[in-house]
Amino acid sequence: MGDERLCATCHEVPLLGLGAVDAWQVGERPHSDVRAQDTIEEWRHSDAAAEGRSCRTCHMQNASHRFLGARDAAFVRSAFAVDAAVVDGVDGAMVQVHLSARDAGHAIPTGDPFRRLLVRVCADPSCERVLVHQTLGRWLSTTGADNIDTRIPVDGLRTLQLPLPLGPLLPGAVVDVSLRLAETGLESHLAREDVVVPLLQIPLEVPR
Ligand code: HEC
Ligand code: HEC
Repeated sequence: MGDERLCATCHEVPLLGLGAVDAWQVGERPHSDVRAQDTIEEWRHSDAAAEGRSCRTCHMQNASHRFLGARDAAFVRSAFAVDAAVVDGVDGAMVQVHLSARDAGHAIPTGDPFRRLLVRVCADPSCERVLVHQTLGRWLSTTGADNIDTRIPVDGLRTLQLPLPLGPLLPGAVVDVSLRLAETGLESHLAREDVVVPLLQIPLEVPR
């Protein structure tokens, strides 16, 4: 153990305003209570930490020096379980999605604040027609006011209720979950593999 202190230099860092970033670069250490990355603090509250599993236990399996991370879809999928069903809501049919953490020593996703999970209900598996979607991520401001965190909490559960548009849900509809890597505004400038890691699709049972 103890490797988390090394990881903390980059994965437990304050969110700084523009002027503060200039100050940081000339060696000042301005104070901020808001964390741009909070992975070590999340890990401290995890079952994994209680069991004595460090960052390296999960991220450097097989004593290899390749870091397992966000670009490895199977590794990311191993971190949580998903189920989805069409249910009746007050204003019509909705898709209820449960995302439960399975084996990650922190919130999902963690690290870089642009990382987010995109949950989409699509008319068919190509996802050319998205019926409704929701993003699980963090939206931060340097003051800490109005900060939002909709990620899967450490060892916890996130339930989504996505209202379906009116009209029958046709066979072939799926719930599609992917990890988005980059800031939204940069996506169109990047290669696809630097934008999205497809994770899984669940076929939706169409109610009669
Ligand atoms: C010197 C800074 C630094 C240190 C120290 C550091 N990291 Fe990172 N790490 C980064 C940066 C930068 C990224 C890229 C973030 C991105 O792509 O958005 C990253 C990404 C990652 C990723 C995601 C990889 C991916 O597929 O995108 C994992 C997992 C990770 N780090 C784990 C660790 C662990 C575990 C430690 C401690 C053993 C550690 N890091 C120490 C800077 C650091
Ligand atoms: C119990 C296993 C486990 C432990 C312990 C663990 N991680 Fe992870 N980590 C994962 C899994 C699985 C993922 C992929 C799912 C995700 O993105 O959260 C991941 C993802 C990440 C990512 C990339 C997030 C993203 O989606 O881009 C970073 C950065 C990271 N971990 C850093 C750390 C650091 C630093 C520690 C120690 C404080 C740590 N992890 C401890 C399992 C673990």
